[in-house]
Amino acid sequence: MLNFEYHNPVKIVFGRGTIAELDKLVPTDTPVLMLYGGGSIKKNGVYDQVVAALGKRSVLEFSGIEPNPLYETCLKAVETVRREKIGFLLSVGGGSVLDAAKFIAAAALYDGVDTWDILAKGAEVKAAVPLGAVLTLPATGSEMNANSVISRSSTGEKLYFSSPLVYPRFSILDPETTFTLPERQTVNGIIDAYVHVFEQYMTFYLNAPLQDRQAEAILLTLIEEAPKVLKNPLDCDARANVMWTATNALNGLIGCGVPQDWATHMIGHELTAFYGIDHAQSLAVVLPRLLTHCREAKKMKLLQYGKRIFGIEFKKETECKAVDAAINATEEFFNSLGMKTHLSDYKIDANEAAGKISRRLKERGTMLGEQEQLSPDDVAKILIGCA
Ligand code: NZQ
Ligand code: ZN
Repeated sequence: MLNFEYHNPVKIVFGRGTIAELDKLVPTDTPVLMLYGGGSIKKNGVYDQVVAALGKRSVLEFSGIEPNPLYETCLKAVETVRREKIGFLLSVGGGSVLDAAKFIAAAALYDGVDTWDILAKGAEVKAAVPLGAVLTLPATGSEMNANSVISRSSTGEKLYFSSPLVYPRFSILDPETTFTLPERQTVNGIIDAYVHVFEQYMTFYLNAPLQDRQAEAILLTLIEEAPKVLKNPLDCDARANVMWTATNALNGLIGCGVPQDWATHMIGHELTAFYGIDHAQSLAVVLPRLLTHCREAKKMKLLQYGKRIFGIEFKKETECKAVDAAINATEEFFNSLGMKTHLSDYKIDANEAAGKISRRLKERGTMLGEQEQLSPDDVAKILIGCA
């Protein structure tokens, strides 16, 4: 019998022209810090819309938050928050800006000695500056979850934390803001969302048919909508469908009460930390080989997935082939979007990556997978397979 709690406090404001709603959502009685990235919002008019909606509020800006946001950059913003007595953070951008906002919110009010402990030691977050988001890149689900992933350039680490105190108070999702996404980022977002579903769905069989069907609905929607946004980046309906789908892939609902894996993400974070490849690029490389490595443990779900998503029929004696076909169809879907799926595509030496990453996981004593069945040596084998 399933047993879980589900609580999601984020107010979602979805649709064309919704940035103007900021006027109703952002407090007027406290200084606001607007956070953004490298400037895409200035080119596509989002910045102007936000500034217009904030009107006469007292607003400071902090820009230059990089993709895979850096701890070092966040610390500069923390200084600003403390010095200027900021009472609200507004993230305007993709998952990186929002993850940075979440960390800054927690770090600014952290009462311990070293804010890195929030990420490295799971130090308790007891307070956080309230925050809201205008999302411009559907991918991470950060707009409706309590997670944040931060990288540290001095040590080459990429770590996450999660706290209910950093849920955005609201997230504005205007699909029109995504019209200007470069194709690479559109594809990254679709694959990130696809793999988020996998981490919560592709485990072992449990009698949770609703979560399974909801997860499959997300996968099917991504497969249907992806070619539309790639063919016509200004297709607002398809952009909207991708946006809402990505949010639902990681807002906690499909993961309620079911086993979760997250090994692809943990290995992917190490690839990004060591080699700088995009988050979704790392996932697309690791996932197919991880599925092959774990094909026995995940067999029932791989067969169900193959049949329901790609129509791969099977009998007892053809199960092995059907599992292969399901894994191949996944990789082919990634490739059909122009996404590469091998380490050699990024000029990364698989043996070197396997050595570095498995060593690091050994040092941390990390076991991965839905049953903690993957040792650092298994991870090394998976990475060698990613060549
Ligand atoms: O910095 P700007 O100039 O804004 O440009 C960004 C950035 O270069 C650009 N961009 C964003 N919206 C745009 C746009 N360009 C044109 N038009 C727009 N509308 O896209 C580039 C990538 O942005 P980024 O925010 O880095 O991408 P994404 O949303 O994919 O976020 C990736 C980060 O999220 C983490 C990843 O590890 C990575 O650090 N994740 C966060 C999760 C979470 N909080 O739950 C879960 C995920 O698994 C993931 O780990
Ligand atoms: Zn992800």
